[in-house]
Parts: sequence; structure tokens; C-alpha cells
Amino acid sequence: MKREKFSSRLGILLAMAGSAVGLGNMWRFPYMVGVNGGGAFILLYIIFVIVLCLPIFFSEFILGRRSQANAFGAFRKLAPGTAWPLVGILAIATPMIILSYYSVVGGWSLKFLANALSFSFTKEGADLGSMFGNFAGSTWGPCIAHTLFLATTAGIVLGGVQKGIERFSKVMMPLLFLLVIAMGIRTLTLPKAGEGLVWLFKPDFSKVGISVCAAALGQAFYSLSLGYGIMLTYSSYVDKKENIATSAVKITGMDLLFSLLASCAIMPAVFVFGLEPNAGAGLVFNTLPHIFATMPLGGLVAIIFFLALLVAALTSSVSLCEVGVAFLVEEKHLKRSTATIIVFAFCWIVGIFCALNGKVFDIFDYVSSNILMILGSLFMVIFVGWRMKRTDVFDEFTNGGTLAANKRIFGFVWFVIKWLAPIAVLFIFISNFIG
Ligand code: PFF
Repeated sequence: MKREKFSSRLGILLAMAGSAVGLGNMWRFPYMVGVNGGGAFILLYIIFVIVLCLPIFFSEFILGRRSQANAFGAFRKLAPGTAWPLVGILAIATPMIILSYYSVVGGWSLKFLANALSFSFTKEGADLGSMFGNFAGSTWGPCIAHTLFLATTAGIVLGGVQKGIERFSKVMMPLLFLLVIAMGIRTLTLPKAGEGLVWLFKPDFSKVGISVCAAALGQAFYSLSLGYGIMLTYSSYVDKKENIATSAVKITGMDLLFSLLASCAIMPAVFVFGLEPNAGAGLVFNTLPHIFATMPLGGLVAIIFFLALLVAALTSSVSLCEVGVAFLVEEKHLKRSTATIIVFAFCWIVGIFCALNGKVFDIFDYVSSNILMILGSLFMVIFVGWRMKRTDVFDEFTNGGTLAANKRIFGFVWFVIKWLAPIAVLFIFISNFIG
């Protein structure tokens, strides 16, 4: 069977950036910057992204494109008869767990977009304080919203790599950037927006310690969707002629730019209205509606914001779903439609538990983003650095020795993949655990 490929360079970039840009950029990054030393955290984050994450990104790219297979098949093909495919199982299972609860959050976004469209936040007497709690704590609402969101995700994945994922990303990613820029213009023209910017960006190096390093590294992995077999799966659809290094740099740049834009669009508003900055669901579903209710043009900004949140969540959830579908199609020889239905059914059931029980939700989130993701990245980079032959990695990274610039940086990239990245990631992971 002929494997599908992305049809254009732009399609590749936007699909991968679509996976990277998501809730992590909109509700995690701005808060982390603010509480972890502002500009100092950003500097640290950028250093980690360039020195550690890019080489890990290259590794996932190399694994996927070299093997032309899904996250499990890649290890089976490149290291037959060994225990390495177990890492592939981890790289398939983790996205399935994430998709189950990501879809619950996607459902909340859908519901809040509906609220925004009916101007519920700006209505006289709206009970903003308990709007989210009442919804998320109810039985039917979150389950229905989760079902709708997951069905939309599955519908896009069902369309295939080119006609589903690529086409959707090409329309949605530019829209997403426009939405966040529009919201940023509104926020930054509010009086006293400058104070919020100062809180966000003023460097405070005294806060930087091992836990802040761990936070910056974890955020970078999460934000770039590294360590889950996602970039591996997507890069297996990338043509052999593409330049791995420039593609990864562009995607990373887009992700960083989006995080900074989202920070400027959200946090100054929190300050102008004197609210407590917080992270996660609290920021997006509790704090921001208060702001939309008070801000001039708030009803409209609410629509823009929740639409952006929904789009960001969808392009990421599509990538999660594709990992499982690619595995079932290639390893179990199922039809794409059957594979999609199986992934849908699994994530729907697990997601229902998350929708109904906040504790299950928190455990899944913690285990997948703090443990499985780091282990996944670590194994992949060790595989490329220690199990693959240097000549094969060189061949893949330089397109058979034809890319002069890639040849020049290969020595450094190889050093980071083999030594620096595994040691640094392990050190930060363990020291943060020990406390
Ligand atoms: N990178 C996405 C974000 O920043 O929200 C989140 C994400 C998507 C993480 C897909 C992991 C993943 F597999």
C-alpha cells in the first residue's frame, strides 16, 4: 500500500505547527513566564529550545522520515528483534491518553464559544464566578461537548493526511494567528496594559533555580509536542527532499512567536482589571470571562478568543489522533475508517471518565506531561544517538550529503543528540523529582 505524504512544504509546516501550537501556548506559557522570572524565564526557555529541543526535534524527524513508518513501526523497522519497539508502544499509548482528556478541554472550549456567541458573558446578571464550575461539574454537558469535539477531530483525521489534516491546518493556522493578533491589539490598547507587560517580561534572575529549569524544559517539550511520537508520525509523511533542519527551526519559531503573542494578548488584560494571574482552566474559563464582561468590545473579543482556543485545540488533537490511526492502519492493516472509529471509541470512553471526575483528569495530565513525555523524548534521542549508525543519521539529516549548511552543523548536532541532550534531560528530570 502506498503511504500518503504531505503535498506541500507549507502544508507540512502548518500541520506540524498546528500540533505544536495549542492550549499549552495559550494557557500555560503566559502564566509560567509571569511567575517564573519573566524575561529570565523566556531567555532560559529560548536557550533550552535551541540547545536541547531542536536536536530532539531533529531526532524525531530523523526517526520518522528514515523509517517511513508510524511511531511503533519506526522502532520495529530500525531495530528489528529488539526491545526498542516497546518505546514505540509508549509513543502510541501516551497520545491516546492525552487525546482523551484534551478532548474534554476541547469540549469546554466549544461550550464557551457557544456562550460567547450568545453573548452570555456580557449579559446583565450573568453569574461568571460559577459559570465554569457549574458546567464542568455537571453530568451531561461536558460529556456531550467532549463527544462533539472528539467526533470533529476524528472527522478531520478520517479525511486523510492531505485532504484532512493538511487542508484543515492550511486554513486554520493563519486564522489562528490573525485571531490572536486581533485580540492582542485590543488588549495592548487598554489603559495600563504596560504594567501587565512589565509583570510578564521584566527579567528576575533570582527566581531561576532547578525547579524553574525543569518547568522551562517541560513547557518546551509540551509546547513543541515532543516525545509523544507525534512529530515522528508527521515527519514520516515528509518528502525525502525536504530539509529537516530548516523545517524544524521554522516550526519551533512559529510556536515561540505564538506563545509570545498569546502572552501579550492575555496577561496585560488580567492586570488592567486587577485579577489574579493563574494558569490552566482557571485562567481561561474563570478569569477571562470577567475581563470580557468589563472590557469595551468584550463580547466580540470573547468570540475571537474562544474561537482561537477551539482552533488551537483542534489542530493539536488531530495530531494526537493521527498517531493511533497510523499505527492501526500500518501495523494492524485496518482501513483508515475502522482505525479512526477504534481510536474514537477508546478515547471517548476514557475521556468520559475524565469529564466526570476531575481527579482522573488531573492524574492523566500529570503523568502524561510530566513523566511519559520526558521519558519518550529521552528514549528517542538515545535511540538516534546510540542505536542508529552515525552515517545513517548524517545521511538523513543532510539529505545524502547534499545540504552544505546541515553538513557544517552536523558535528554539533550529533554531540548534543549523543551526549548533551540525554544527560541534561535526565539530570533535570531526576533533580526535579528528588526535590
Ligand atoms: N503542543 C500542544 C500545546 O502546546 O498545547 C499540546 C500537545 C499536543 C501536547 C499534542 C502533546 C501533544 F501530543
